[in-house]
Amino acid sequence: MSPMFVPGPVDVDPSVLAAQAQPMMPHRSKEFEAIFQRAGEKSKQLFDTQYRVFILTASGTGSQEAAVRNLAAETVLCCVNGSFSQRWHEVATTNGKQTDKVEAPWGEAVLPEMVAEALKKEKYDIITIVHNETSTGVQNPVKEIAKVVHHLSPETMVCVDAVSSLGGAKIEMDAWGIDLLFTSSQKCLALPPGLSLCAVSDRAMQRAETVQNRGWYFDLVRMEKHRTKDSTPATPAMSLIYALDLQLDRILEEGLENRFARHSAMARRSQEWAVKKGWKLLAPQGYRSQTLTVVENPPTFDVSLLNKFMAPKGIRLANGYGQLKGKTFRIAHMGEIQLSDLENLLTAFDEYLPTKGL
Ligand SMILES: Cc1ncc(COP(=O)(O)O)c(C=O)c1O
Repeated sequence: MSPMFVPGPVDVDPSVLAAQAQPMMPHRSKEFEAIFQRAGEKSKQLFDTQYRVFILTASGTGSQEAAVRNLAAETVLCCVNGSFSQRWHEVATTNGKQTDKVEAPWGEAVLPEMVAEALKKEKYDIITIVHNETSTGVQNPVKEIAKVVHHLSPETMVCVDAVSSLGGAKIEMDAWGIDLLFTSSQKCLALPPGLSLCAVSDRAMQRAETVQNRGWYFDLVRMEKHRTKDSTPATPAMSLIYALDLQLDRILEEGLENRFARHSAMARRSQEWAVKKGWKLLAPQGYRSQTLTVVENPPTFDVSLLNKFMAPKGIRLANGYGQLKGKTFRIAHMGEIQLSDLENLLTAFDEYLPTKGL
């Protein structure tokens, strides 16, 4: 495998890719229901939850939509400090919700006191927070924000996007009081794209029952009726669920704590490497992602030229995202990537720099 240090879709282990090639079967058969049930149960460990995990045939953005359609009758407070949190705000607005923002500049974290200030002025049905802003490499303090929300506005549902961190960083859904928490398959879970795993608390399910116009495809109440019978309202992406079933075994075999430690060791190493060069990390100390490192481009640095140099070695990293394209580069260290892979990347990077007089 030639590692791609990009924040998804990431490399998938050949055994997991091969699991997708298992034959089809009727999705409403005992055989498939057993696989679906198993995958849902094992997934709970990733979220540290006693509640339920929906396996959606959708990418992560589908769960952003599910959160606002099911849990917000009217009002949504969006924490926005990057491209994906901005998207969630757009998802809420385009679904007809009344939205407000708590904004921090890109590259900074949304802080609990900022949320407190907003909640002292108004109450909201839900709050949306992106745990790991993939566009900036900032990890928002979700635990502390959730605490403030529960204290000042206990009826507000805490909804968290952990698309680029769940499975790579520890997130304790129940202990932190998160009501809806989701990820996509193509990032830290190291699966092909196409699934979103979305865990939902009991009180969020009760809220959903009271919300009108939840739509059909992402209606959690409808999904729950099927899930309790190990099934889905519509045809699921079965091949991906075969792969998920195997990949969850691989992840649990590594051990979640070991997996989190591996991701944070790679984050530390990337951060130290960049800082030693005198380069600036976009995210401030204390709010740095464990699954990707975002570095401000040194003058004259061009990530596409670097990738051309890396291509024969089978290595690739990511340009900045959105308004940070051409201004930053991103080293994603998630999924199957090991510290030794990262060392190879950094060595290649170190070889490249003198060729450009850097
Ligand atoms: C933090 C975050 N949220 C949401 C998304 C959107 O996820 P998807 O592309 O799976 O819909 C991404 C994608 O990169 C992301 O990084």
